[in-house]
Amino acid sequence: MQKINIFETTLRDGEQSAGVNLNFSEKLEIAYQLERLNVDIIEAGFPAASKGDFQSVQEIAAKIRNCSVTGLSRAVISDIDAAWESLKGGAEPRLHTFIATSPIHRQYKLKLSKEQVIERAVSTVKYGASKFPIVQWSAEDASRTELDYLAEIVEAVIQAGARVINIPDTVGYAAPAEYGDIFRYLREHVPSIHKVSLSAHCHDDLGMATANSLAAIEGGATQIEGTINGIGERAGNAALEEVAIALHIRKDFYQAETSLVHHEIKRTSDLVSRLTTMQVPANKAIIGANAYAHESGIHQDGVLKEKTTYEIISPELVGVSSNSLVLGKHSGRHAFKERLQELNFHVTEEEMNSLFKQFKELADKKKQMTDEDLVALVLEEKATDTVIYDLVSFQITHGTNQIPTAAVTLRKGESGLIQEAATGAGSVEALYNTLERCLQSKISLEDYRIQSIGGGMDALAQVFVKLNYGGVESSGRGLDQDVLEASAKAYLNAVNRVLLMKELEEKVPQ
Ligand code: KIV
Ligand code: ZN
Repeated sequence: MQKINIFETTLRDGEQSAGVNLNFSEKLEIAYQLERLNVDIIEAGFPAASKGDFQSVQEIAAKIRNCSVTGLSRAVISDIDAAWESLKGGAEPRLHTFIATSPIHRQYKLKLSKEQVIERAVSTVKYGASKFPIVQWSAEDASRTELDYLAEIVEAVIQAGARVINIPDTVGYAAPAEYGDIFRYLREHVPSIHKVSLSAHCHDDLGMATANSLAAIEGGATQIEGTINGIGERAGNAALEEVAIALHIRKDFYQAETSLVHHEIKRTSDLVSRLTTMQVPANKAIIGANAYAHESGIHQDGVLKEKTTYEIISPELVGVSSNSLVLGKHSGRHAFKERLQELNFHVTEEEMNSLFKQFKELADKKKQMTDEDLVALVLEEKATDTVIYDLVSFQITHGTNQIPTAAVTLRKGESGLIQEAATGAGSVEALYNTLERCLQSKISLEDYRIQSIGGGMDALAQVFVKLNYGGVESSGRGLDQDVLEASAKAYLNAVNRVLLMKELEEKVPQ
């Protein structure tokens, strides 16, 4: 069996999804879960992009010990310096540097000749190799690059010290057979190709990212890049859970396997979906809610007689199960803490104090607290790691033939209380109009969703919003037993994320 390395880029390419802006604790929580999933490489961010990115890459590199952590850098010396400063404390620091190679990118974006692109790639790879034990080099838009030129530049960067060569299908343009052939071509035409491993990085613009990744393996790639749930720029990246399970289920055909711990897939998918607020479609392969549901009578009859008639993957393989332990209002701090540890959460003592207080308050109102409730509670705590505007109180009046009216009190840091009132066509609109007044800024709501956590009349409400605040798109989430309170929290969470991001946007000191 050929071992396929998994290069996980949810925290870099995945975070480039429109409206996704993870905070620091959320990124760390995802990194810990990726470590449990046993990916080989975590791309934690783009260290030179901002102070916030730099700090989160540095912290993830310091905390993650069982995977190599990498950070993206352009073919620019100061980017490589920032990457080294943030990654040098990691278990296996690795540089990921790239430059575009296709004619379109050379002419319109870089305004560089073929020779100039090679020169830039070679000098930056050399510089990277003088610092990092492993350098991965990517040819952005490789799939639209002249093959002979691609082979020439790949040979040059291998000579300069690159140890992994990535061939991205940046715009999701390649067809599977064609993409696989690029790898075959490079293996035949690049003299030093035996010194490196080849990597595939596919985008899903034509819905072919998984098929292309698998075709690349057939062509000789030994590393696959992608994200959990396939999130990412535009239509997203290759969904790693799809690639890994396809290899596992069809190992008879591909003769290749990853080292992923398959039963951690569902949990990873849920975590990423909730933290990014990007919902997984019910019919999504491997992790969708309907992926293991048999609806038609003929199928149900077949499955009852013999599961394998219609089920090629068992839900247990990827960690889909309905087992859930229950805690109640009599459960003590010890049981609560133990359960959070069993659920693999990393919580500080301060977070634990706040979480236990919230747990007790909720357990008093709800009969039972399931794992789903606990997960929601912990993630809510992580969502609010920095609060600039805090909800102090609100009141809403609404009813048949009445104009819904809201009054809200917010606290802004040390600078005191803000109070406003407004009306709206419905209670959520009245609430959001009032919050907009409090924040004295034009805010447009682009998406609003409510989801119940578990079943029952006393279920917690999770609200997700996407909004545009000061020209920045942001997502937020809020959790409460009351849908309007959850709505207010989600709105403020999205606003707080923009303000925090602006604080951290400052450039990395060079
Ligand atoms: O899609 C792409 O080309 C990329 C590179 C930076 C690797 O994400
Ligand atoms: Zn990409």
